[in-house]
Amino acid sequence: MKSVIINCDPGIDDALAIMLAVQSKSLNIVGITTTFGNVAVNQVTSNALGIIDYLGADIPVAEGSSNPLKGKRINSEYVHGKNGLANIELQHHSKPSEKDAVDFIIDNVESGKADTIINTGPLTNLFSAFKKSPETMHKLKLLIMMGGAIVEPGSITRVAEFNFFCDPYAADFILHTPVRKTMIPRDVTQHTLLLPGDLSRFSKSKSAELAVKLIEFYQKFYINDLGMLGNPLPDALTVGYAIKPELFQMREMDIVVETEGTQTYGMSVAERRGGVHERKAVPNVNVALKTKSKDFIDYFIKTLSL
Ligand code: RIB
Ligand code: CA
Repeated sequence: MKSVIINCDPGIDDALAIMLAVQSKSLNIVGITTTFGNVAVNQVTSNALGIIDYLGADIPVAEGSSNPLKGKRINSEYVHGKNGLANIELQHHSKPSEKDAVDFIIDNVESGKADTIINTGPLTNLFSAFKKSPETMHKLKLLIMMGGAIVEPGSITRVAEFNFFCDPYAADFILHTPVRKTMIPRDVTQHTLLLPGDLSRFSKSKSAELAVKLIEFYQKFYINDLGMLGNPLPDALTVGYAIKPELFQMREMDIVVETEGTQTYGMSVAERRGGVHERKAVPNVNVALKTKSKDFIDYFIKTLSL
């Protein structure tokens, strides 16, 4: 069983990812660390605490970065709602850890309590942890990150996916660390959709009730504004990889992130040329290129309905 820290920015799909991780009972969740991203980090932390208390889970939450390494903080309130959780206020009694996210990550990787990080937001916290204690962080067994796009168009810009765009310096740095990495890009998340008709498949359990409310809000953007048939579940699919990697077809790739471009800032740029270029490529991340989408969606609905 993987012992994981979920570094996230709830956010509707982060919330669904946390719910899947908790309800699956297939992961030892050492803690949750929060970062700016979909909304400001203080709201993200409040949302994470609200989700944990709603589930009755005893999981520490440590607050992290409030801004990217460079540039301005953006948000995606237009997708996730002003408070980042479909404007649902989840009351909570729990308080964040005394430790900040970076020290929480370093201490739990150093002690061996955490062997895997599931990253579903900007990568700034991880950048800081690797910079502060590289020897410790190089002990990490696996880093699974939702981010990037290989041939799929971008989201926040024509070519950039949101998590990488929020802090491309952190994303490019992390892609060049010597730990085993897996990337769950838009190429799979955009093709693993929950359809409006799927909502009736959830049970009336406590977690299903919250999930349906979150998804109903989320679908408004993806269906009404983007004209998609349903909503993706980027972060939940990333947790899905940690639990059921057999649902994913992977390929080792050489990927960098653009940190200077005017039009291409935050773009994940993969070496996809063959021949001499392929021979010169230095694969640095294992990328999910296909997913058994129906199997994942069935598992997601069943698990959140428990
Ligand atoms: O591109 C999708 C990612 O951006 C997800 O992590 C979602 O929560 C948003 O942060
Ligand atoms: Ca996220």
